[in-house]
Amino acid sequence: MNEIAPALLEGWMRDYYFNTEIDIGSSGVENFSLAELFQLTNLTQEELNSVVFHDSSSLGSLELRQAIAERWGNGDPEQVMVTHGSSEANFLIMNGLLNAGDEVVVLDPCYQQLYSIAESIGCQLKRWQLRFEQNFAPDIEEAKSLINSRTRMVIVNFPHNPTGASLTRKEQDALIDAVAKVGAYLVWDAAFADIVYNGSPLPNPNLRYDRAISMGTFSKCYGLPGLRFGWCFASPEVLARFVRLRDYMTLHLSPMIELIARRVVEKADKLLSIRLQQARINLDIVSKWVEQHQALVKWSRPQGGVCTFLGLRGISNSESFCHYLANTHKVLLVPGTCFNNPSHVRLGFGGATTDLNEGLSCLSKALLTSNPFNE
Ligand SMILES: Cc1ncc(COP(=O)(O)O)c(C=O)c1O
Repeated sequence: MNEIAPALLEGWMRDYYFNTEIDIGSSGVENFSLAELFQLTNLTQEELNSVVFHDSSSLGSLELRQAIAERWGNGDPEQVMVTHGSSEANFLIMNGLLNAGDEVVVLDPCYQQLYSIAESIGCQLKRWQLRFEQNFAPDIEEAKSLINSRTRMVIVNFPHNPTGASLTRKEQDALIDAVAKVGAYLVWDAAFADIVYNGSPLPNPNLRYDRAISMGTFSKCYGLPGLRFGWCFASPEVLARFVRLRDYMTLHLSPMIELIARRVVEKADKLLSIRLQQARINLDIVSKWVEQHQALVKWSRPQGGVCTFLGLRGISNSESFCHYLANTHKVLLVPGTCFNNPSHVRLGFGGATTDLNEGLSCLSKALLTSNPFNE
């Protein structure tokens, strides 16, 4: 077991999320309030008042797991566990299934939780690169070349944070086949699955492959990161391993969170359609802004999610630039150093459209200002 690496993105957010005024760095859609949830779901104040803070069950209440299974699975609640965001699911998956020395295929760049936990366990990471020169398009042949009989787990996240890249349905099938061929676990982080710009969301791979474990969350597409609610689909045997670990950690979710989550799952389409429409409008704004700033930035249009990984021309240290933007313009942007890629920044476009416009205008000013970050 190695010491776990500091989570760079979470550290950046700790420093700037509460100290900036305009957020064009976060990776989720605009957040909802409780008052909005009362309006958009059938949740009532009386229901909240009647919550008794008893324990909940280890996997989550049956009604809630059933609702999740019906929306994102095949209707079987035995395959579902609810979690405190997908972060908890991720922690349980890696600690429940990996051992030192295991080979694990991970994306690069990638949300750090999806590889640092495995690294801290002592796993050997094999990196599946997404390259800007190829529009960050995942190359399935490259993934296949990394997967072999020693592979214990393949961990992916599509649509991808921070690039917005994704797979076609055919590529998803090819990936599942390659992982199934060697009997490895496929960990499918579906945090952004429900926001896509062409076609429909990719199906849950757990429906096709019993060693696939997929994770979902209300933090990104549903505007509820502070609810700390997520879920994972896995076989009952695998979920039993997670419960064994959870018994020493968080035990179960709060019955109040479970109640709110159930109402949200039941009205998920309503919340989603509002934010999807906003995401489309905002993506067009970003697209036009990029066109007007081609001398300063380069990008690859995202296929899903609400973030994109912008290359800054002539700026090799995006971290100093992002400190400057936060301190001078009070705008939150995430440096590519949080993703092992210092010449890029993560731009989040899921927030209020007025904020996006204002944030982009400050970004233009900062990029045009002759500052110490220009080479
Ligand atoms: C790809 C991805 N997975 C998982 C998470 C964790 O989110 P949460 O624990 O809020 O569900 C994040 C958060 O940024 C993420 O980007």
